[in-house]
Amino acid sequence: MIGDILIVSGSASQKLAANVAKELNDVFVRVETKKFPDGEKYLRVHGNVDEEVTIIQSTGFPQDETLVELLFLIRNLKDLGAKKVKVIVPFMGYARQERRFNDGEAISAKIVAELIEMAGADEFASINLHEDCVRKFFNIPAYNLSAMPAIADYVSEITNDPIIIAPDKGALGFAEEISEILGCNCTYLKKVRLGPDKVETTIADIDESEDNGSKVEISSVKGKEAVIIDDIIATGGTIVNAINILKEHGAVSVNVCCVHPTLVNDAISKIFAAGAKDLAGTDTLKSDVSSISLAKTIANHLRE
Ligand code: R5P
Repeated sequence: MIGDILIVSGSASQKLAANVAKELNDVFVRVETKKFPDGEKYLRVHGNVDEEVTIIQSTGFPQDETLVELLFLIRNLKDLGAKKVKVIVPFMGYARQERRFNDGEAISAKIVAELIEMAGADEFASINLHEDCVRKFFNIPAYNLSAMPAIADYVSEITNDPIIIAPDKGALGFAEEISEILGCNCTYLKKVRLGPDKVETTIADIDESEDNGSKVEISSVKGKEAVIIDDIIATGGTIVNAINILKEHGAVSVNVCCVHPTLVNDAISKIFAAGAKDLAGTDTLKSDVSSISLAKTIANHLRE
């Protein structure tokens, strides 16, 4: 039986949205997008609009265009008769500027959240927002879903004896989540950012005599299949440093996983040249390595 919720997507997340519709047995509606010769966006929904519609659209590169498409979609669906519009933004662009780091800066994440809400969104969800506090910029229900169960499934398929590595302390929560699901150990590295494409990575002191949950010292990677997990891979600098340290400490292999493969310039080749066995991201963003689908994760959220 076909469900009665419509799923639509802008140009950024068509395949993921179609797969979510399949999971839910819902109707996937075609949305046409193109650019006028002067660069302005055109958007048309092909099909009748129901009372409830779910939009799935990431707002990654080109951020301004994918965001405008999302805003056009929300407002247009409301104008066309939708009473409730749920908005899923698997990767939310601008989410990293969630505060004013220097005087006078625009708090982009807050502005984007306000625009999504003002356009008519009734509910919002994203996946592993860079900072969970971005949810607080919404007055509508806002959810931050985790890709870790889906990534843990992938890790269990590609390894027999893994240890999960966070390439910086900010990613430790992801490593702990996966290691808990898989019942294996994890550890983390210390990272200092020296510039937009330069980071320095060192070993973290972990006292195994204290109760550290599944966290172990870096020496425990010896003989193990190391799996690095991060939320975003941009230039790849963070991952390259981590691979080097893991190899120096005797890991038999290093696989790399991330949620959002933004992958700037030659990030993929840098990571493989450093010795990664494989690299996999989720389909929150389209890329050559977006092999872990979050269709089930999003469908499960929509079922709740
Ligand atoms: C930073 O906090 C993020 O979690 C990633 O570690 C960072 O965005 C990766 O950047 P890059 O690939 O340029 O080192």
